Amino acid sequence: MDAFDPAAFAEYLSRQERKDLLRFLTCGSVDDGKSTLIGRLLYDTKLLFEDQLATLQKDSAKHGTVGEDIDFALLVDGLEAEREQGITIDVAYRFFATEKRKFIVADTPGHEQYTRNMATGASNADLAIILIDARKGVLTQTRRHSYIASLLGIKNVVLAINKIDLVGYSKDVFEKILADYNSFADELAFDNIQPIPMSARFGDNVTQRGENLSWYDGPTLLEHLESVDIRGDEIDRPLRMPVQWVNRPNLDFRGYSGTIASGTVSVGEEIVVAGSGRSSTVKSIVTYDGERDRAIAGEAVTVTLADEIDISRGDLLCDANQRAEVADQFSAHLIWMHDEALVPGRNYLFKIGSKTVSGSVTEIKYNVDVNSFQHLAAKKVALNEVSVVNLSFREPIAFDPYGDNPATGGFIVIDRLSNLTVGAGMIDFALRRAANIHWQAVDLDKHRRGEAMGQRPAAIWFTGLSGAGKSTVANLVEKRLFALGKHTYLLDGDNIRHGLNRDLGFTEADRVENIRRVGETARLFVDAGVIVLCSFISPFRSERQMARDLLEPGEFVEVFVDTPLHVAEKRDPKGLYKKARAGRIKNFTGIDSPYEQPERAEITLAGGMAAPEDLADQVIEYLRDHGYI
Ligand code: ADX
Repeated sequence: MDAFDPAAFAEYLSRQERKDLLRFLTCGSVDDGKSTLIGRLLYDTKLLFEDQLATLQKDSAKHGTVGEDIDFALLVDGLEAEREQGITIDVAYRFFATEKRKFIVADTPGHEQYTRNMATGASNADLAIILIDARKGVLTQTRRHSYIASLLGIKNVVLAINKIDLVGYSKDVFEKILADYNSFADELAFDNIQPIPMSARFGDNVTQRGENLSWYDGPTLLEHLESVDIRGDEIDRPLRMPVQWVNRPNLDFRGYSGTIASGTVSVGEEIVVAGSGRSSTVKSIVTYDGERDRAIAGEAVTVTLADEIDISRGDLLCDANQRAEVADQFSAHLIWMHDEALVPGRNYLFKIGSKTVSGSVTEIKYNVDVNSFQHLAAKKVALNEVSVVNLSFREPIAFDPYGDNPATGGFIVIDRLSNLTVGAGMIDFALRRAANIHWQAVDLDKHRRGEAMGQRPAAIWFTGLSGAGKSTVANLVEKRLFALGKHTYLLDGDNIRHGLNRDLGFTEADRVENIRRVGETARLFVDAGVIVLCSFISPFRSERQMARDLLEPGEFVEVFVDTPLHVAEKRDPKGLYKKARAGRIKNFTGIDSPYEQPERAEITLAGGMAAPEDLADQVIEYLRDHGYI
């Protein structure tokens, strides 16, 4: 019961023979008795430390809710508080063992963020214990947890029908709940559902058979956990090994290191690098224990190859006869784990294997109602929702459909700015729509075009509140550049919204799409060698970053027109603030829609303070100092 140490944990795992180790998670609603159950398992398998036991007995006498008995919930809750102090993931791992097996249990707390915790705990579990309060039966959360467990590829479920003492140890209640659950779970991809009536509080059917449950002749929870067959089939799947790093200590040695995600690798075997399609044969396999002829899924190895081929971090080594697919557009299931909803078009990072790529959800096809499996029309994916979406990545990646290989078909979604994990997903299949469109190489490039025009092409991106003075300043800058003989164009929010973006309004999703299109348009202008001035509120950091990322370093100059809200509102050139205050315009920036200030703009202009001409001078000066003109 040590604090969770990922490195030690990984090492511990790799040293175990699969059959000796069962990884499982418990899930259920807050009061289903999860803590009591885990406490009971740990207590009955005698793995509590003596001093922890003593404290527990004292605490139970003081705070317990169960009279004289030991309150096991106190034990686990105590560990939870300890965990809150340092461990950044919300899932606590506990270790215990019996003669027959070793166990790692992921305890996922049942609060608001349960989907996130559940997905974290479930991502490498062999079995899920789904707890049900016998008085309440199957709830929405039961269904949601089951659905996520099944999406994540868990095949074994224990349906723990707990608090059976509170319904008089009734066989009828047990059977009714079971029938209810089965009619729902038929749709899910579980191989084995073991129902067990139990009272975690009194210990019936946790590790010992309960006298009150003589009508039940199945295994106790511990018997089942000790004997259930969980041999994974990842060893039988084709070889997949994501390269975590290229190991090159000296000129004579070049090895590719990583953990084998599936299959086996042997010396002399032909492998292929997904993506480049180059192949070679395995010359040697090096592990911590020395050289080996063969290694299997789950082992960390370094392989060397017979030929010098181009391989870098993030590449996927594959069985030459059963290659992974390569694509940049997908249909996928997505579980959203963040308070802020997913917005289509917004850029996120997607981590699949050891590769991280930038991309976005191009379309929400539907959200899934976890109670009925009905498809719900949706524009957003909110916290704890499950959705089927289309994805588009900036570059192709190697993958397998999740159903074929969870190790190479699962991904997580990371927010670009906060670095938080905001979602988890599973690739269903690649979309072939873009497969036959190739980038047309042209001989003239932006540098030559820019040179001929006597300038360095760039996008000068003005951001700020409505009425901040963006368009006024941009207009003055353009006139000055024109007078200097430079080639320019001005893209302005109000104007673009009359044409290219006339179908867009001011919801968050529409603003994201607005800036995406403008960003792409700006990129075309830069490619044409032009200095393009863009004047858009562009209130979200995320999309300004996206526009920046479309260009090369130095080609995006962010100009923050920093005019305080009260100044812009007083100016109110189009009378829009007045209308917004009166509630006649919705989602107005600064009033009932946020503006996220730039953190690292190249130029910040004190909008309320200086005359527009002076502000324009500052921009021209910057462009001159930095060699654009
Ligand atoms: S952005 O937020 O998507 O970048 P954009 O710059 O294209 O906005 O358009 C902003 C202009 O649209 C404003 O200058 C204003 O004239 C007009 N407008 C109309 N409704 C709104 C609104 N709800 N919020 C902000 N601007 C609005």
